Amino acid sequence: MYFELSEEHLMIQQAARDFANNELKAGVIERDEHQIFPHEQIKKLGELGFLGMMVDPKYNGAGMDTISYVLAMEELSKIDASASVVVSVNNSLVCYGLEKYGTEEQKEKYLKPLAAGEKIGAFCLSEPEAGSDATSQHTTAVDMGDHYLLNGTKNWITNGGNASTYLVIAQTNSALRHKGINALIVEKGMEGFTIGPKENKLGIRGSDTHSLMFSDVKVPKENRIGDEGFGFTFAMKTLDGGRIGIAAQALGIASGAYELALAYSKERKTFGKPISQHQATQFKLADMATEIEAARMLCLKAAWLKDQGLPYAQASSMAKLFASEVAMKTTVEAVQIHGGYGFVKEFHVERLMRDAKITQIYEGTSEIQRIVIAREILK
Ligand code: CAA
Repeated sequence: MYFELSEEHLMIQQAARDFANNELKAGVIERDEHQIFPHEQIKKLGELGFLGMMVDPKYNGAGMDTISYVLAMEELSKIDASASVVVSVNNSLVCYGLEKYGTEEQKEKYLKPLAAGEKIGAFCLSEPEAGSDATSQHTTAVDMGDHYLLNGTKNWITNGGNASTYLVIAQTNSALRHKGINALIVEKGMEGFTIGPKENKLGIRGSDTHSLMFSDVKVPKENRIGDEGFGFTFAMKTLDGGRIGIAAQALGIASGAYELALAYSKERKTFGKPISQHQATQFKLADMATEIEAARMLCLKAAWLKDQGLPYAQASSMAKLFASEVAMKTTVEAVQIHGGYGFVKEFHVERLMRDAKITQIYEGTSEIQRIVIAREILK
């Protein structure tokens, strides 16, 4: 068993760290405050291969492994979780789903521009009444012979306004329950497809989250992913990998806040010495460092299992559950170590604390992760 990263992994980690510090850091407070999507930064990340990291180079991807993806996600998320969620959704929900289950034609038409970062994708599962309970899809895709007629509303869609390609999960045959669900590729601009207003969020405010409305949208049959009725399994299998990305995002938010708190604790003096020399601070730093390291191990283990072709549903849910709880706890403590400065925007930790919360909610709440883990244990 090796705990060391390869030369290649270290290079990817450094490249992501440099990008985060040189390209993401400068405007991150303003983008958060005014809810500005990081267009320019996402374009550059695409040019560097970060939007199709694990995709085969023949489809314009960077051909890297999932461990590289975890390392990059941690580094980007230390600085800007709004940018990193775009990277995560595009990589592990949209590109992965298309590469693994799409037809050759779908890969040529849709995967190639997404992996190159020329276009952005969105994954559309959640509905007003189907968040955690994902089998209760109210969006319908009625089989019309050569096309499906899509009707319904999707909620909380990351990249909702800026995506061009949407993977939409919809019910075709309700009598078959989850076996009657399909996953369809929908293009922005298709007649009857409208994008609702942007949500005004607590955290990840630079990313755009929208509801989407479909009214008699004609989706060609060739845009269905996999066989008829494969949509729910498609969503679940894709989310297994997506959760590794969000776990790594949570890890990055935690380690970003920890690094800021550590540096600050060495500078800030009270009672004649740096606060890092007070045991109260040392205990906090020790807990933060230990829990972050444990979260990192879970993320890398899940990524390694996926890269080995071994089952990883349980490991990815464990990584997401633990890392998101560590993100929340660590960011709260980082604000505490900063005292009053932690409560103002210039010191970054209050934003990280707000950003941490969503990692316990999207791609399955902490409660859903516990359900997935318990089911795997009890199988
Ligand atoms: N892989 C393959 N198949 C799976 C699976 C998996 N991981 N999980 C479930 N399935 C299969 C089951 O085997 C079962 O199939 P069979 O009947 O053929 O055996 C079928 O799916 C139904 O499974 P369940 O009976 O377990 O379904 P359930 O409704 O009881 O619960 C759940 C499943 C795990 C709770 C699921 O609903 C779930 O994951 N919910 C959370 C959804 C979620 O994560 N939403 C996030 C939205 S996406 C997002 O946030 C993206 C973003 O913008 C950042």
